[in-house]
Amino acid sequence: MYCGSSTLSKPKVSIIGVGPGSSDWVSPASLTAIEQSDWIIGWELDFKPLGKLPDGKRIIFQTCADYKQIIEKTALEAFSAHASIAILKTGDPLIAPAGLEDLKRIFNKFDMRIIPGISTIQLTAAKVPVSLSDCQIFTYHPLPHDGGRDLRLKRKRMVFALERGFNLLVLTGVRQSPKQTASFLIHAGIDNRTPCLVCQNPGQLQETITRCSLEKLTNLNFDWQSVLVVINGKSPFKASACNP
Ligand SMILES: C[S@@+](CC[C@H](N)C(=O)[O-])C[C@H]1O[C@@H](n2cnc3c(N)ncnc32)[C@H](O)[C@@H]1O
Repeated sequence: MYCGSSTLSKPKVSIIGVGPGSSDWVSPASLTAIEQSDWIIGWELDFKPLGKLPDGKRIIFQTCADYKQIIEKTALEAFSAHASIAILKTGDPLIAPAGLEDLKRIFNKFDMRIIPGISTIQLTAAKVPVSLSDCQIFTYHPLPHDGGRDLRLKRKRMVFALERGFNLLVLTGVRQSPKQTASFLIHAGIDNRTPCLVCQNPGQLQETITRCSLEKLTNLNFDWQSVLVVINGKSPFKASACNP
């Protein structure tokens, strides 16, 4: 039977950012946190930046069919075995962290820590380059049964952010490709000449960079592993709309 770490303290859970997909961007701190954990859990994609599966660990894969249940089950088992867990997340765990609130609830009896990672957001902003403090980040994870409410809210916020002079950093989602974002923004009155950049497969060998206008973007297709920047160097809005 697996006994895990023997200590009377609370078992540990580390939510670890492993960077955008290549081993070049996995930090030593993330590797150490993985090394210090007994069990490692994540989607197949989350293991990719490590190059190979870590030796001597119990490896647990999440899949579309069981990604929530497997976390709950693993938490219960790890608590009884007093095993420490590493939960891998691509990029940084706090950028578009699907399920962070669930993890906090499920692991409330654990000692939880977050190990930041290099995000696809940072790599993409660096290509423009734009300061992250002049950007607003948008992500569209389709929420089950919300009838598109989240998408409508995020779209309203995008227009609001552009009106206030921010650049947009938009993670691609099932219902929100760069092309759909561009069409929506033009429809909402944003100048179709507004410059954009799309980084596809950030930080990976197949990385591509596309610079074009919003108008051109409405005709281009990108992989889901892409990030769009709408560059607001010259405000597309009337000055009055930009007052704070
Ligand atoms: C769930 S979010 C995860 C973001 C991640 N936490 C980060 O900091 O980059 C997934 C979105 O990130 C972007 N992304 C780009 N490359 C990615 C990669 N290799 N793995 C996961 N997400 C990627 C895409 O826009 C994708 O839809």
